[in-house]
Amino acid sequence: MYSTGKVYLVGAGPGHPELLTLKAAELIRRGDVIVYDRLIQEEVLALAKPSAERIYMGKPVGRHDSRQDEINELLVRKAREGKTVVRLKGGDPFLFGRGGEEAEYLAGNGIPFEVIPGVCSALSAPLSAGIPVTHRDYASAVTIVTGHNAATAEDRLDWRALARCDTLVLLMAVHNTGTIARKLIQCGRSPQTPAAIIQMAFWHEERVVIGTLEDIADRVCAEGIKPPATLVIGEVVRVREKLQGAQRDLQRYFDSSVHFQPGPGPDQLLRLAAGGMAAKVLGWALQTRLFDRFEEAVTAYDFAAEQALDAQATSEILRVLVALGLLESRPEGYRNLELASRYLTSTSPMSLRELLLYNCTQTEEWQRIAEFTRTGVPGKPGVGLGEVASAEQRHAACEAMARFAAPGAVEKLADVWQVPVAQQVAVASRVPTLVPPPRKAPGQVLVAGWGGDAHRDALLRRWPDAHVAACNPLKGEPFPKEGGFDWVILAGALEGNDSAQFDGILDCAVACLAPQGQLMLHDRVTAAGSLPAAEIALASLAKRMVNPAHTDWTAERLAAAFERHGLAMGQSDTLFAGYTTIFAARAERRAQSAARVTSVPA
Ligand SMILES: C[S@@+](CC[C@H](N)C(=O)[O-])C[C@H]1O[C@@H](n2cnc3c(N)ncnc32)[C@H](O)[C@@H]1O
Repeated sequence: MYSTGKVYLVGAGPGHPELLTLKAAELIRRGDVIVYDRLIQEEVLALAKPSAERIYMGKPVGRHDSRQDEINELLVRKAREGKTVVRLKGGDPFLFGRGGEEAEYLAGNGIPFEVIPGVCSALSAPLSAGIPVTHRDYASAVTIVTGHNAATAEDRLDWRALARCDTLVLLMAVHNTGTIARKLIQCGRSPQTPAAIIQMAFWHEERVVIGTLEDIADRVCAEGIKPPATLVIGEVVRVREKLQGAQRDLQRYFDSSVHFQPGPGPDQLLRLAAGGMAAKVLGWALQTRLFDRFEEAVTAYDFAAEQALDAQATSEILRVLVALGLLESRPEGYRNLELASRYLTSTSPMSLRELLLYNCTQTEEWQRIAEFTRTGVPGKPGVGLGEVASAEQRHAACEAMARFAAPGAVEKLADVWQVPVAQQVAVASRVPTLVPPPRKAPGQVLVAGWGGDAHRDALLRRWPDAHVAACNPLKGEPFPKEGGFDWVILAGALEGNDSAQFDGILDCAVACLAPQGQLMLHDRVTAAGSLPAAEIALASLAKRMVNPAHTDWTAERLAAAFERHGLAMGQSDTLFAGYTTIFAARAERRAQSAARVTSVPA
């Protein structure tokens, strides 16, 4: 017999994990059962622990009521099994999400529950498009309405009253936009009232269509807008134009430099213990009782000497443990993080050591790591990575990574491209690098490397008039013969670690650049002396175990390569998972820019 668990009705916000509340993120990590529906994104579900049972309970059109009964019963059943049940709902659970009904049902069945608010789409989707739902000049009231039944006999809305509201925000209205607009006009609202629809706010697929009551339905149809989307009607829509004039774009694309990483909890450690290279490193560290030894700060050299290990290999492993959030790196050496020591040292009453060690031995041959640390050389070819990847597998991986990186990289390019002139000077005088280019649409763009199509899509979405060419020199495709490109984007061009190959690519890329053109590179690059992301630390460890001659691309090594080609490195920004965007332009141009900057009065 189990004691009853608890159900959390959790608002997941408009979709992006960065917009979860801290409490929501923590509960998703902790939940034994995650019950979710259509609006919940993979990236949010990815926070759940591997052992969590994920149950999709999306509602097929026309089956809402019976499905709701199933959901209610499921929540009660799982709670009675003693589970922590996380019922994830898009936006806020009590706004058009049937959260109220679920709470009533749980209360009626004596199940303990808690409701966690979420960022609701009715306010955040307009915000994402630069539309404040209230504004002193335009609207003192906002009314949130469901558009779901607008075209059916079940419609209970008072359209006369709605027509008089300052701002109307309609959810679930995409298919009924025409009916809604017609009803409001019939009830006296001006056909010229501004209207906007925001599809998939805060996502790559975010699209904003602007019109008036009279034509918004046609525009929605012509643009192929699909749910989830939020319709806003009222004078406040005009604010978007004003804000856009002053600021490049109000759409918030994902910023993967922002991570919510509170340090490793037991769930994360268990996940580490179950996955690939990280499991091997963790297994070795546990077996050597490394975490006990690092209660006080110890240098890699001292630790290697006392354990008779290879110093170089040991310090690499310690860096990986830092990147994984298990050790901290201090001037006096490496030391256990407080949280890590709680779960990892054998003396801690909360130690998960035996369990983790067991998991590691079950999943991976982590003893290979021990061999590497003893000798500093890989035992046999392919050690640590299993089979050495074929060229085809490597290409598929590079292509997938570049496709994933393309939208974020294009956003970084847009940041540099369209910074207003006043800010350009301010930025340039603070950081003596490149002065960003003039504010105009990019004309000719060349994508050299992986993910050509994904870059083209992302570029054209932002600048429909841009001319985008693509080639992949890493697959032997030649650069275009004609030059004059305003931008050359090098995507994944540092593949492998071959300086000569990269020099060849840079030669061609520079030849393709217009005189004022700029280069943007995105790839895995670390600054010397700074902590690489865990993905980079693990990947380079794995590469070094296959090929001891492998050296990472650091920002310094890259700057030297640029210099050999008369280029000066400019701004660099974090993209995600250790990916970085780096800008460069001809060095003489940078000198001109610097001269211009110094002549600007303070
Ligand atoms: C069933 S309602 C749930 C609303 C949710 N409880 C909230 O607070 O946002 C679903 C509707 O919310 C809106 N919606 C949800 N996520 C959205 C997003 N990312 N962008 C735009 N609208 C969204 C759409 O109108 C969608 O049809």
